[in-house]
Formats: sequence, structure tokens, C-alpha cells
Amino acid sequence: MTSTRTDAVPILSRGDFPADFRWGCSTSSYQIEGAADEDGRGKSIWDTFCATSGTIRDGSSGAIACDHYHRWPEDLDLARDLGLNSYRFSIAWPRIFPDGMGATPNSKGIDFYSRLIDGMLERGLEPWATLYHWDLPQTLQDRGGWANRETVSAFVGFSEVASRHFGDRVKHWITHNEPWCTAFLGHYEGVHAPGKKDLRTALQACHHVLLSHGLSIPVIKANAPDARVGIALSLHPLMPASDSEEDRDATIRHDGLRNRWFLDPLHGRGYPADIWKLCGKDAPVVEAGDLQAIATATDFLGVNYYFPERIAHAPGTGPLGTRVMEPSNIERTGFGWEVNPEGMVTLLKRIATQYGPSEIYITENGSTYDDVVTQAGTIEDAERRSYLARHLSAVKKAIANGLPVKGYFAWSLLDNFEWAEGYLRRFGLIHVDFSTQKRTLKLSGEWYRSLLKERDSEN
Ligand code: FCB
Repeated sequence: MTSTRTDAVPILSRGDFPADFRWGCSTSSYQIEGAADEDGRGKSIWDTFCATSGTIRDGSSGAIACDHYHRWPEDLDLARDLGLNSYRFSIAWPRIFPDGMGATPNSKGIDFYSRLIDGMLERGLEPWATLYHWDLPQTLQDRGGWANRETVSAFVGFSEVASRHFGDRVKHWITHNEPWCTAFLGHYEGVHAPGKKDLRTALQACHHVLLSHGLSIPVIKANAPDARVGIALSLHPLMPASDSEEDRDATIRHDGLRNRWFLDPLHGRGYPADIWKLCGKDAPVVEAGDLQAIATATDFLGVNYYFPERIAHAPGTGPLGTRVMEPSNIERTGFGWEVNPEGMVTLLKRIATQYGPSEIYITENGSTYDDVVTQAGTIEDAERRSYLARHLSAVKKAIANGLPVKGYFAWSLLDNFEWAEGYLRRFGLIHVDFSTQKRTLKLSGEWYRSLLKERDSEN
């Protein structure tokens, strides 16, 4: 497997991209903040999930993580020093509403994000706020979580308060990060919080997540009329594992739940009928008006692109009867994720052709490898540098093909708590020594910095 890895770095220059291109890094609250019990933060489903034995590979949690809650000035300095002009972060709902909702938000939570946002602006970083990056307040989970329709109004309430307090300074809002993961990793596969394994629950949770997205858009815009609002989806180009008709049909079905289940309703087409039929009695309860709300116009589509999937017909496996195949002799990251920059171009073309969003941002893209700290204290992550450079080349190609890609956010600024993998997977452009909290720029980060240093092309 590793034999196909490459260190190749295509020649790229910042001038290859539009002058107003957004150059960023992404992070999320639970993965970096730590300070789990500070300043009135309530418990989230990830605190509970991590405390359940056998859920996290190294038995860890995000209780301390990168200690970003205390070290954010240093981290924002690092983001500025990379040359970024944008920074994507998420707002921890349980810091704003420890119980998920209420008449008064937690002022210390509001103050924290207010300082953080001011800190970004002072450093020339455009804030891109994600409202939901998976840290649902536990109190809401105790009442059924996303499977309970009440959570939709709780989310809209949270969006209202967040946009009222921060909308004067935050002009880019992402309602949800990767609803597929919330729904299916969290409620069907059970490998993410809240650890449920039930298709009906997953589909209902998914519907409520999408509904909460749509209903929060006008609320955010009422508070911040000049705000631009979108959603970040995890999308995958899919290929049949073979030329057989069965595998080709399986690929269409797999695409139905992986991609179309989100893209279709968000673009006013409702849930895909072929998949709805396969869901049978597990299909979600959809009330009158829900689909119109989900299709509320957005200003951009966030695409989190990591890897393509190769699909085979596999009768009897789940509602779709499909399986993801992992052929050998394909380049993969340390996670086993296929490295396929061209797949991003294919995906973006498909999105543009079939759905026509006016603007697309790559809101996440990145890789994990087994980083080694040399005796000199450097991290020579040539493979991550190559991954980054080759994916940016793909973005350049997409733009040259006329696709409306307006920005790129690398995942991630810092090594962090990688969900069920704990601290075993490092995705950062900046290395974090979790025993000392020392930050060190990796070779990949240096490469990104040198690309972005060509500041003259910035407007
Ligand atoms: C994405 C998540 C992000 C991070 C990366 C590696 O699915 O949005 O938080 O875990 O994968």
C-alpha cells in the first residue's frame, strides 16, 4: 500500500488563483478547545461518548485537546503567520446554552467567542463560523437529540443568539458540518456520539438536521442582513468497483444516501425517490413545509472533500445492498483514505453541473500520516505537503474549468482530537505535542506559508 505514496509537489503560485480567493484552515470546538468544565460550559454528547468505554481508540477525550480555550491568541498568531486570510472555527453550543436552550445564554461563553472573533479580525483573518460541528448539548440528547423534532427549534434558538451576538463581525456562517456524519456515524454505525445504531433514528435525525439548517437561515439573516450562509457537506465521488452492471447499479444506490440524500433536498428536489423506497418503514417523518424549509436558498455550498469510494453490489448489507471496496495498490493516507486529487475535480464538476451553486468553498480537505518528530524537533511531513499541493492543484484546475470555487480551507490548523481515533491521527499543518502543548510548524505548513507569502496578489 505504502509503495504508491508520493512526495511529489507540483509547482503552484498564489497568483494562479483569483485575487479574492479565500485561503483558510478549519478547526472545530470540541477537537481543539479543551476547558471542558470551564466558564459554565455544559456537557456535550462527545463528553458522554468519550466517557463510555471502548468508544475512542486511545481511550482519550477532548477534555484538554489543544487547550485552545486558553491558548487561542497564540493559535490565531500562528494562523496569521501562515498567511491565511480566513479561518473556519465552530461555536460550541454547550458553551452558549449549557442545557441546549433557555431564556439567557451563558455570558462567559458569549464573551469567549466574542474575544476570539475580535482576535481573528485584529489579525486579518475573516471569521467563518460553523454552528454545529457535532457537540450537541447532552441535555438535548437526554430528550432524544436530533431524532427529536424539538432539537430543531433549539438549534434555531442557538443560531439566533449566536448571530445576534456575533453577526456584526461574522459575515460567513455554516449551519452544519457534515450532516451525513451526524446522522449515520452517530445514529446508524454508532461510531460517533451519541453512538446509536438504528436506521430509522438515523434518517429521522438526518431530516431534523437538514430542517434546522433551513429554518436557521432566515434567522441568521435577520440578525446579520449582510451575512452569507451555507452548509458544509461531506461529499464523495463514487466509482463502481468493477464494470459489472450490478456494481454500477450499486454505485447509483450508494450515491443516493452518501450524496443525493443531502444535495437533492437542499436544492429543492426532495429526498431521492429510489432511496426513499429502499428505506421502507424506516423513512423519516416529514411534515408539511419541511422540504420547502430545507430548500431555503443559501449563498454558498461548503464541500468537505477527502476521498472517493469504490462501490460493489453486496446484497443483504444494510438498506442499500452496497459495500465500499478498498483495492490494494492505491495511494492512501495513514487513515487508509484514498488519495485522489482528480476525484475532487470530478466531484466539483458534478455538483456544478447538477446543482449549480453560485459559490463553492472547499471547507475541509486534509490528510493524516504518522508524523515523526526528528531529533532537531522538525516534522518533515513530505506526504502531507504533497497531498496539500496536489489538492490545491486540483482546485486550480477546477477554477480553470470554470467551476465557482472561491476558497480552500485546509483541515486542520492544528493536530487535534480526531473523534473516535482520539489523538492517534494527526491532521494538522502545525504539530501539537499534547504533553507540553508546544506547537511546531510542519513542513506542509511551511509549504502553505510560502505559497501564501506572495501577498502582492491579495487584494
Ligand atoms: C471530517 C470532520 C473533521 C475532521 C476531519 C478529518 O469528517 O468534519 O472534524 O475530523 O474529518
